[in-house]
Amino acid sequence: MRSILAGVGSYLPERIVTNDELARRLETSDSWIADRTGIRQRHIASDRETCAFMAAEASRAALRNAGAGPDDVDAIILATSTPDQAFPASALRVQAMLGVRHGFGFDLSAACTGFIYALSIADSMIRSGQIRGALVIGSELYSRIVNWQDRGTCVLFGDGAGAIFVRAGDRNDKRGVLSTHLHAQGTLGDILYVDGAVGRPDRPGHLVMNGREVFRHAVTRLAEAVEEALAANGLKRTDVDWLVPHQANRRIIEAMGRKLGLPPERVVITVDRHANTSAASVPLALDDAWRDGRIKRGDLVLLEALGGGLTWGSSLVRI
Ligand code: UT7
Repeated sequence: MRSILAGVGSYLPERIVTNDELARRLETSDSWIADRTGIRQRHIASDRETCAFMAAEASRAALRNAGAGPDDVDAIILATSTPDQAFPASALRVQAMLGVRHGFGFDLSAACTGFIYALSIADSMIRSGQIRGALVIGSELYSRIVNWQDRGTCVLFGDGAGAIFVRAGDRNDKRGVLSTHLHAQGTLGDILYVDGAVGRPDRPGHLVMNGREVFRHAVTRLAEAVEEALAANGLKRTDVDWLVPHQANRRIIEAMGRKLGLPPERVVITVDRHANTSAASVPLALDDAWRDGRIKRGDLVLLEALGGGLTWGSSLVRI
């Protein structure tokens, strides 16, 4: 059994905040942010646009795109670090909002790598025959957990959601998820973390990051993850049509593109418009290139991400 990527969808909050707007209330500038990261603006959620709300909107779009409906959804796996509540899982709020009446769902915490982790679980469950259709979602509101006084981190993040609908295909199908590769190193937990949680007296927590350390690990770990995905499938760098990377920093993304020998136009970049949306960034970028027709049926797409944990991973998908 293969997991076919049947549909993609996304949701971005209505409000856009530019670098210049941030520079009016913080000691920063459009040129500092854009030169270091490629970010020019980010979307910031209103009170109405919660994790579950955005996830449901993105999921509706993905189901529509796949020509599927609520009855086709056996599992909802929602990657997020910013759920609406400790429980029920935001995935189950999404289940209710979509009118899905069977199956199961849960939230998954793997920071910016969450979408790759969620895809890996959905793919394994489809391959084993346990489910036939799954919504795999990343939905994040880092605007709620960044420290708006810390210019070193708050300018980097944005809110949004992306979703895909994966369904069981035929074993002989050339399309689908070829492989997923997950990694974590808990000893690096203190280079990127949130210093609080629901249930802790010092909540709400704020995101804390040693940017230089994360940057250093991102470049080496992601390069390894890319090689691992190609080797596992007996493929060469030149076989890859598109790189759809986690959108944290344009410099990291371009380094990965160069490593693959891909021309810049084959690397999907949304960090300029979305900033870093953590677990939502890969499906948001995928939807961007899918909707405007850049990514086409038969293309080989490499997904990769790295985030707090430290977590990182990759996946190769034939569209
Ligand atoms: O999604 C999870 C994965 N995350 C990542 O992959 C992020 C990886 N890291 C990065 O992308 C980069 O490290 C950053 C973009 C976060 C930072 O870039 P950097 O080149 O490593 O800058 P820095 O943190 O070393 O700061 C350089 C200077 C400092 O001033 P001094 O000490 O040199 O005088 C900062 O105080 O820039 C200053 N600075 C700012 N200046 C203006 C930090 N933030 C800002 C700001 N505006 N917003």
